[in-house]
Amino acid sequence: MAHHHHAHGHDEHRHEQGRHDHEHLDWAEMAPLLESQAELFTPLYEHALAWLAKEVTEPGLIVDAGSGPGVISGLFAETFPGARIVAVDGSEPLLERALARAERLGAGDRFATLTGDMPGVLAELDYPADLLWASRSIHHLGDQGAALAACVERLAPGGTLAVMEGGLPSRFLPRDIGFGRPGLKARIDAVEEDRFTRMREELPGSVAQVEDWPALLTAAGLHHTRSRTFLLDLPAPVPDRARAYVVESLTRTRDMLGEHLDPDDRAALDRLVDPDDPASVHHRPDVFVLAAHTVHAGVRPV
Ligand SMILES: C[S@@+](CC[C@H](N)C(=O)[O-])C[C@H]1O[C@@H](n2cnc3c(N)ncnc32)[C@H](O)[C@@H]1O
Repeated sequence: MAHHHHAHGHDEHRHEQGRHDHEHLDWAEMAPLLESQAELFTPLYEHALAWLAKEVTEPGLIVDAGSGPGVISGLFAETFPGARIVAVDGSEPLLERALARAERLGAGDRFATLTGDMPGVLAELDYPADLLWASRSIHHLGDQGAALAACVERLAPGGTLAVMEGGLPSRFLPRDIGFGRPGLKARIDAVEEDRFTRMREELPGSVAQVEDWPALLTAAGLHHTRSRTFLLDLPAPVPDRARAYVVESLTRTRDMLGEHLDPDDRAALDRLVDPDDPASVHHRPDVFVLAAHTVHAGVRPV
C-alpha cells in the first residue's frame, strides 16, 4: 500500500516530465482511504502491538510518529490503558480524525496531537517517550538515518523505538486470473518499486540508504534490535470492506502506474477494476487479501 498518491491525469503528466511527484501527495485527501485501510489491517496491528506489549511494560508515554488518521494510535490507547498517547503528523485534518477516534474510544483525556514536519517537530514533545512507533512514515523522510536518530533522541532511557517498514507486496488474486498473462501482480509490484524509488529520490534532502532497518536502528544507538513480520490473511470469500480495499487499491494502481505496464497487462487491469465486468474484483469470488508488514524494534540503553 504504502504509497498513496491521488489519481489525477495531470499528475501522470508531470511525472513524465520528471517533476516532483511528492508535491502532489495530499494526505488529507487520502484520509478516508488511509482510515478504512488501517481499520481493515487492525488484526495485523493488534498482533504487532501484542508482540511489543510483551517487552514494553506499562509505558507512560507512547508517541505515534506519522500517525495519519490515528487508527493505530487508538489501538495503542486500548492496548496500554495506563498510557498517554501523542499522535504526531504533518497533516492537521488527519490528526483531527485521530483525536475524534480517541474520544470515541473513551481515551480522549489521555490523548494529544502534535502537528508539524518530521523529524524536526519531534523536538517539540514535552516528555521523552517510553514507546515511539512509526509505521510507514520514516520512508517519507529524505534522510531516514537522521529521522531515526531524531526519534531515538526523544526516547526515555530504556524506551523502545518500533518502526513498521518493509515486508512483502500484497496479493489479492490467484496467479492465473483466467485472462491476460499470469503473474500480473508481480509485474505491477516491479513498477511500484520503481515509483517508490523515484518518490524517495525526489524527497527534500533525499539520502540513499541501504534499507537494513536493524542496522539503521543500531547505528541510531539502539540495542536489542529485533524484527518480526505480521500477516493480514483474509481468505476468499472476503467481506465487503476487504473487497472495497482491493477495488480501491487496484484502481489507484491502474490510474497511477497503468502507463508503465505493457498494453496486455493494462487491458487485464482495466478488466479487473471495471464494475460492469463480471470477472472484475467487484464480483469475482476468488478475491483475497494477503499482506505482510515487518516491525523493527530496538531499545535505548539506560
Ligand atoms: C503512509 S501514511 C502512514 C499512516 C499510519 N502510520 C499507518 O501506518 O497507517 C504516512 C503518514 O506520514 C505523514 N507524513 C509524511 N511525511 C511527513 C513529514 N515530513 N512530517 C510529518 N508527517 C509526515 C503523512 O501525513 C501520513 O499521515
